[in-house]
This record gives sequence, structure tokens and C-alpha cells, in this order.
Amino acid sequence: MHVGVLTGGGDCPGLNAVIRAVTLALLADGVRVTGIERGFLGLVERRVRPLDAAAVAGILAEGGTILGTHNQANPFAWFGAGGADVSADTMAYVRELGLDALVAIGGDGTMSIAHRFERLGLPVVGVPKTIDNDIAHNERSFGFDSAVAVVAEALDRLATTARSHGRVMIAETMGRYAGWIALEGGLAGGADVILIPEQPFSVEAVAARCRANEQAGGHTLICIAEGAAARGEAMTVMRTIESSPDPIRLGGVGHWLQQRLQPLVASEVRTTLLGHVQRGGTPTAFDRVLATRFGVAAAQLVQQRRFGHMVALQGSACTAVPIADVADRNRRVPPDDELWRAAQAIGVCLGEV
Ligand code: F6P
Repeated sequence: MHVGVLTGGGDCPGLNAVIRAVTLALLADGVRVTGIERGFLGLVERRVRPLDAAAVAGILAEGGTILGTHNQANPFAWFGAGGADVSADTMAYVRELGLDALVAIGGDGTMSIAHRFERLGLPVVGVPKTIDNDIAHNERSFGFDSAVAVVAEALDRLATTARSHGRVMIAETMGRYAGWIALEGGLAGGADVILIPEQPFSVEAVAARCRANEQAGGHTLICIAEGAAARGEAMTVMRTIESSPDPIRLGGVGHWLQQRLQPLVASEVRTTLLGHVQRGGTPTAFDRVLATRFGVAAAQLVQQRRFGHMVALQGSACTAVPIADVADRNRRVPPDDELWRAAQAIGVCLGEV
């Protein structure tokens, strides 16, 4: 048997741990493994390399992906060919390589492309990847714990400087559609205010918390997800301010909030955009273990010929869910989420009026 492995979408701590585990587990079963470079780009541009024990040695704790990745590489709408569908050529290359199956490690976009290849006759197993922790039917993604650790450390550091100056400090986290990083990172870092995409926030409610802290002689730590939006204020507001077609990527919301907040409070307001620092670097021990479990589980799915499935963590068990149920869906923070309720219970301001 011959299996291809690729990593698609944005990178994430723990990708190499998955590549290592899936490769070693497949090799142990006598399967030949080929790494596809830069996600689906490698299948279109014919860039592959063999994966053996030597190729994956020493990569467990390394951030990023040794295979490389690409955000835009979709053979069904190829950016290099004006959006044309090049999937037939891609499948011809798959047959030339003699691939019997593909292990696709990626987010909902990668799962959606993988699902389409499955329908063209390439058996696929998926492994969920996202620091945002928002892939449907998967309770924990590797990379998320590493990102949360970065946010918590940043808030710890911001707290000491905020305290010294009596300031309002805004830390903007990743999380375009879901607020898991801001919620868990904010709780871990002792944020006074946590703002997430799932709950439109009121600038006045945030300002009221800052003023209350000022009166008590304290500072305020605000943790806001990049996808958060003020009640009644569309993202177009940020577009105008940032003069960009894609303000979310510029991380506009933290600076936008600073501008709105400053006239309403006495303290100085400062913003730190945590950005890709949350995505880079070495995975935490938790993420290394979870990624290893996912890699082994993916190899088992291949061995059992359970194609069309994505590995998922449900409760404490590694299980498998149909890729069709996952593609192009997001797992967002529900209104009754336990963490959200915990934040409410300890008096964290969540931006509600
Ligand atoms: O992986 C998802 C994510 O971390 C989002 O939170 C963020 O908006 C996005 O990646 C940014 O990725 P890039 O800058 O690579 O497009």
C-alpha cells in the first residue's frame, strides 16, 4: 500500500508530531509513505518526497510543518489558473504516483477539498488541525493548547505593565469565527474582559468595567478575539479604519476598540496584537501527545480501510467522524458553554449590556 500525507491551510504547533506519528505507524505496517509538499499545491505542481523513519526523526517538538503548507491551494479552483478546476490533472498525478490513499491534515477547508477528492476516487483520511479549536465534531485540536499558553503568558506580562501604569491593556488574539482562544486564554491570563465573535459586545459595557477598575485604583486587562464585533457595528467599520479589503487579518478590532474606549475612560489605553506568535514555535506537551494520538489514529483508519473519516477527540477518546459532516463547518462557543458560564460566575465582563 502507498499513502500520501499532506498538511493544508495555516500552520499549527503539533503538525510535525502528527506527520511523525502517522508515518511511523504506517511504516510499521509495511505501508510506503510519501510526503506531499505545501498541501494540495504539491499534488498540482508535482512536488513530493518519500517519508521514512529518518525523514521524521527529531521533528516531534518542532513547530510548523516539515512538508510546508499553503492557504490557497485548492485544485478545484486553482489560483494559478484563474480559478480553473485542475482536479482531473491532479488525479492523473495521483494515479501516476500510485497513491492508494491520502492522509490530509488540515482545517475545515482542507477537509472540504479532501472530501471532493474522495468522490473522484482517492480514498481519504482526515486529521483536524487548527489553533482556533473550531473544527466541527472535534472537541480539542492540537495547537490550541500551545496558542492558549502564548495568550496566557502575554496577559501575565501585560498585567505587570498595566498595573505599573494604571492602564487599560487590550490583547487581541486569533479566532476569526470562534472565540475559544480568547475565552480560554483570557481565563488563564486573568482577563477582566473577554470579547468573542459569538457574543456581540457593547463598548459602553467594556468602558463601565474599565471605569469601575479605575475607581478601585486598578488596571484593566481586555482579551479580544480578532473576529469579535461591537453590537450594531459591522466589520465594515474596521475596513474603513484600516483601509484594507481584509481587516480581520490586519487585526483591526483591538485597535478599533482602543479608539472607541479611550474617550470613555480616564486611563491610557494600549493594544497588543498577538498575531502569528500564537501559531508559531514549539507545541506544548499536551499538543505533542494529542498530535501523536491523532497520527496513530489516522494510520489505524487507513489500515482498517475506514476512508472518508476524520480523526476526532470526543470526551477523552480518539474517534472518527465522516468528513462530510465536518467540511466547511465551524464549532463555535455555544451560549451555554461551561467556560463561558465560569467566566460569568467570576465576574469577567463579557461585553453584554
Ligand atoms: O488558523 C486560523 C487562524 O489562526 C485564524 O485565527 C486567523 O484569522 C488566520 O489563521 C490567519 O491566518 P493567515 O494569516 O495565515 O491567513
